[in-house]
Amino acid sequence: MIARSRCKFDATCLVLVGFLLFMAAPLCRAQSADVAATPPMGWNSWNHFAEKVDDAIIRAQADAMVSSGMRDAGYLYINIDDTWEGERDAQGVIHANGKFPDMKALADYVHSKGLKIGIYSSPGPQTCAKFAGSYGHEEQDAATYAAWGIDYLKYDLCGLRDIMKGADSPDAANKIMVNAYLKMRDALRTTGRPIVYSFCQYGDDAVWRWGASAGGNLWRTTGDINDTYPRMATIGFGQAGLAKFAGPGHWNDPDMLEVGNGGMQAEEYRTHMSLWAILAAPLLAGNDLSAMSAETRALLTNREVIAIDQDAAGKQGDRFSAEGPMEIWTRPLADGSKAVGLFNRHSGALDMQVNFRELGFNGAVKVRDVWGAKDLGSMQGGYKVQVPGHGVVLLRVSE
Ligand code: GLA
Repeated sequence: MIARSRCKFDATCLVLVGFLLFMAAPLCRAQSADVAATPPMGWNSWNHFAEKVDDAIIRAQADAMVSSGMRDAGYLYINIDDTWEGERDAQGVIHANGKFPDMKALADYVHSKGLKIGIYSSPGPQTCAKFAGSYGHEEQDAATYAAWGIDYLKYDLCGLRDIMKGADSPDAANKIMVNAYLKMRDALRTTGRPIVYSFCQYGDDAVWRWGASAGGNLWRTTGDINDTYPRMATIGFGQAGLAKFAGPGHWNDPDMLEVGNGGMQAEEYRTHMSLWAILAAPLLAGNDLSAMSAETRALLTNREVIAIDQDAAGKQGDRFSAEGPMEIWTRPLADGSKAVGLFNRHSGALDMQVNFRELGFNGAVKVRDVWGAKDLGSMQGGYKVQVPGHGVVLLRVSE
């Protein structure tokens, strides 16, 4: 409209508008990279506690995040998912329900531990669990979150789908969705508080193509994960081809971790962590941190795996090859080395082999077995290794 009123809407105008948008883009990106320069790490209440989450649980998770060493390993956000929402008052201001007597005090507590706190809402009138969403109250809600001291918002499509159904066409429905995400982006920006903005709309309408320009710091690429190998593997290995859409400030999100929730074997959880690290995925633990085993803690806090996930270059990895159930995934890292995951999706052990020349290395390479925490020495050619069923051998290879 502005362009039309100032000049005839012709090719020159389009070029001008395009140029202005191009110049503005790095500014927007720089803003979002401030809060998510590397994939966000933390914890979310949904996978383990679902609707049982309350103030006491959040405090206990924050305590455990610190005492378990997870904070020092890089986990920062304590995120309250759905079911915290109460009623709106006469002015339309949202209040938490009885499970959360004082959100500001809770945020202060979490902050006092050197952590950050996240919350959840929907662009629709209702959330997935049928609590109040932000529809028609976006600015008000963003202001409330900022006043509480919230640092992260997961914005879950759910209730907006009913409104989208009223649209004339799929394109019009998608426009309603994108506009709803833009509306909350603007509302969050208006608060002036840095708040990580997490889209949760299950990967609809190829969100990876427009998520960053709509202000998303991360966007779910799929439906919900659950604590089983088939679901985790379907989601994780299904991320092939999405690498080019991720980077500092804007990440693909294959959903939260199930590590430690008990439904998978240790080998399978190692696959989960390794794949998520290669994918530069957000690492949001979803177990009960206050009651985790030493094994779970070791899986979640492995420094070398986290270093791959949080690599400064921010380049997501991708599938390099697939031979039936044997998949090799690689991720280029800032120091010129590569993370190489040899994944066996079959239930029994299989011999796998990787050829370093094919991976782009000429000559001898240094190879480190990441989970084994062992230097395997200098190698020429390739490496052959037996990979356990549903398991992984994760290597860091350098020239
Ligand atoms: C959806 C989301 C989940 C969780 C629930 C809460 O299913 O994908 O991650 O937030 O809603 O109701």
